[in-house]
Amino acid sequence: MVVFDEVARGGHEEVVYGYDEVSGLRAIIAIHSTALGPALGGTRFFPYQTEQDAFVDVLRLARGMTYKAAAAGLDLGGGKAVIIGDPATDKSELLLRAYARIVDSLGGRYITAEDVGTTTADVDVMRRETRWALGSSVAEGGAGDPSPVTSRGLFAAARAMSEFIWGDAELAGRRFAVQGVGKVGSAFVQLLVEARAEVIVADSSDEAMKIATEKYGVKGVDVEDIHTVDCDIYSPCALGGGLNQKTIPQLNCQAVVGSANNQLAEEEDADRIARRGIVYGPDFVVNAGGLINVHDELHGYSRMRALQRVDSIFDATKAILEISKEEGINPNQAAVRRAEDRIRHIGDLRRFRRSGEETG
Ligand SMILES: NC(=O)c1ccc[n+]([C@@H]2O[C@H](COP(=O)([O-])OP(=O)(O)OC[C@H]3O[C@@H](n4cnc5c(N)ncnc54)[C@H](O)[C@@H]3O)[C@@H](O)[C@H]2O)c1
Repeated sequence: MVVFDEVARGGHEEVVYGYDEVSGLRAIIAIHSTALGPALGGTRFFPYQTEQDAFVDVLRLARGMTYKAAAAGLDLGGGKAVIIGDPATDKSELLLRAYARIVDSLGGRYITAEDVGTTTADVDVMRRETRWALGSSVAEGGAGDPSPVTSRGLFAAARAMSEFIWGDAELAGRRFAVQGVGKVGSAFVQLLVEARAEVIVADSSDEAMKIATEKYGVKGVDVEDIHTVDCDIYSPCALGGGLNQKTIPQLNCQAVVGSANNQLAEEEDADRIARRGIVYGPDFVVNAGGLINVHDELHGYSRMRALQRVDSIFDATKAILEISKEEGINPNQAAVRRAEDRIRHIGDLRRFRRSGEETG
């Protein structure tokens, strides 16, 4: 495994390996950037086939968090952690607390939260060892499940797309096709139905499909067909990589806005979408609601302040679409450029030493 080559390629600051024989902990923490603030990103608990897979994944995810935080206008850098193992069988209080101690040893340079395979309850356990874990339960004074807030941000982004394309943010009568009605997708469908939009859904889980169609009275289609549905907005809320060379020519929508992380299989897919005349809402901009929500815990959680900030995803989305139009670049490139400008300019402010900061 060529560690330094990979780290150099991604521009990461630091990679920490955590091991504990007694609990069986094997964790990798990647800090991509602290230019804007502490590196925040969740802990993924996943049965990676190889250590190399875990290493590549954590570097990729950490880098993505840098862009997500910057695009959301937060004073945060990007980081991520992975614990190698099956959360169903390998997770224990001992392991989580051992892991949390390693997080704590980084002194706040890396702040963790929940991700695939970890829960709000796990964050509560971690917080017994470190204050650098966010997204604890409401009972513990935390932000709780981020999913409904992510959906709210997605809804704001969909309204911004609608205003940009059709000159009206109103979603009543618009037709949506939603792929994946799990935690985020189902809450998004609820908001759309309340806004009197027409919704069509698909999910590989029969149970999720049953809940969505019965609870919200929306129509369901086969998972193989959802991206081909004739609609105004297609919303991928399942897994990453769903927009690719095969699926993009089959899209039958005018815009794409969804919560899934890493929707584009490769960077060129943003151009492929643009060439079809479809407006793409960059995933790391439109799905930042969860991050914005947990970030608020750093200031003593206020639901009202967090939601207000999440609603600003409307403005962020519109700004990116305007840049894309004015500069003749695709929205993904516009979003990356905006994030990089922020990292450069705000990050550079550190050359002015504030009073009380150590002189080193
Ligand atoms: N939960 C959050 O706050 C949050 C924040 C940012 C990004 N995201 C991303 O949004 C996506 C959804 O997150 P979630 O928390 O709702 O996850 P989830 O696991 O609750 O829901 C995902 C749903 O997609 C379904 N699914 C899987 N493969 C499918 C396929 N091929 N076709 C149709 N349905 C399929 C699953 O059955 C499940 O119901 C993920 O990519 C996640 O990384 C989530």
